[in-house]
Amino acid sequence: MVKQCAAAAVPLVLLLLGTGSSDAFTSSPVAHTSKQHRHSTLTMVATPEAPQVSSAAPLTMDEYSKYVQTTYGRYPLTIVRGKGCHLVDKDGKEYLDMVAGISTCALGHADPELTSAVSAQMSRMHHISNLYYIPEQGRLAKWLVENSCADRVFFCNSGAEANEAQIKLARKYAHTVLGLDLPVIITARQSFHGRTLATVTATGQPKYQKDFGPLPSGFEYVTYNDIDDLRATVKRINGRAKLRALLGLPKRGVAGILMEALQGEGGIVPATREFFAAVREICNETGALMMCDEVQTGMGRTGTIWGFENLGVEPDTFSSAKALGAGVPIGAMMCKAKCDVFKPGDHASTFGGNPLACAAGLVIANRISSGGLLTNVKARGEQLRAGLDRLLAKYPDHLKSKRGWGLINGLVIKDEVELLAGQVVAAATDGGLLLVPAGLKVVRYVPPLTVSEAEIDDALAKTDVAIAAAIARLREGAAK
Ligand SMILES: *[C@@H]1O[C@H](CO)[C@@H](O)[C@H](O)[C@H]1NC(C)=O
Repeated sequence: MVKQCAAAAVPLVLLLLGTGSSDAFTSSPVAHTSKQHRHSTLTMVATPEAPQVSSAAPLTMDEYSKYVQTTYGRYPLTIVRGKGCHLVDKDGKEYLDMVAGISTCALGHADPELTSAVSAQMSRMHHISNLYYIPEQGRLAKWLVENSCADRVFFCNSGAEANEAQIKLARKYAHTVLGLDLPVIITARQSFHGRTLATVTATGQPKYQKDFGPLPSGFEYVTYNDIDDLRATVKRINGRAKLRALLGLPKRGVAGILMEALQGEGGIVPATREFFAAVREICNETGALMMCDEVQTGMGRTGTIWGFENLGVEPDTFSSAKALGAGVPIGAMMCKAKCDVFKPGDHASTFGGNPLACAAGLVIANRISSGGLLTNVKARGEQLRAGLDRLLAKYPDHLKSKRGWGLINGLVIKDEVELLAGQVVAAATDGGLLLVPAGLKVVRYVPPLTVSEAEIDDALAKTDVAIAAAIARLREGAAK
């Protein structure tokens, strides 16, 4: 079903498969070697510029599709190496990377410090299980606690797993502390929390849930940034407690309210301070936990270490992943002492917080604490948004607005025009700039946090060319 022969096919691919997943954008295979040839070819020049990446040529797109399940709408691109904010495809074409593995490679590609820390850890000890004390895990947990409102940390491998852990923690807290039989977690429409059954249910977007029922119960949705809707929903769930008790019905109530400080996949929509203040207030009033999903916004992305810091409140629990390992898989769920209810055996993760992943986490933690990373995020974010304002002025018929914090920003296309984010992204890719849509109408910028002033200027210049090209393509299409 996927046409992969031309970049122009990309918007179609994204329309068919959906663009909003935290994982819809990936590199892909283009090559022309037979299976036999692939196995017999040992190539690669090992220079510092082009380290050996593989002993075999990449599979062709057809071969790739034969073996890999089609869960992603892939761009027709095979990336083979990178350095900083630059990536190189198999044909040697360079790309400026404003995607960073979807907000993940916070230190860019082939960062020397990350490379040496992970290599050193690999040669010392990379995995031993959580049957034993792990020095690197302890140090990373200490940093996370000292640099957030949390008191303790649970480690896992991904954002979905970290959110799953928050959900389980909130449910156990509800059963054991709040005395609820039927705990409910409230999330927002247009949110994105992951792909496991519980997190995809928490995700307030039916398109991700379709065909996966029966979904776990105990989730309700409100409109993001709508305080009245939230209050009414909480009241409805917690209401009639006395009547229910009288009738001997199980005790139902709100266990937690799970929100992103800024909705990433939902179109780069920041929460309002008023909304987060209301969430905090309602949680205090009812005893429910305030839960934050910091998977895309955490670890410096927004200019502060955690996204919720922009909103002036402290949650009771929150998750982290993506940038936490700067591209090495790791996730974490953090909580305040009052809801630290997990006991041995309650929850676990084989790979969670292993020495290799935590060594990577410690590199970015150290760069945030002493490397001026957040200063760069703030300055480059302002520079980018000023440049997006110039583009808004230049294309007033097509562009609507820009949104974002720090280095997570979206350029919003007008609803009433035909132009789609995927079309701008496809044109940008042709012009050597990698971007990723966040929904149908938002072009997302989530570059490495190390991005330079010159690279932001270059990204803006390339975006300008891409918008003009995408508009021209639409006109050509209409003229035919
Ligand atoms: C909520 O409770 C916490 C902990 O007791 C407190 O620090 C905070 O000020 C309260 N916030 C509101 C809005 O009531």
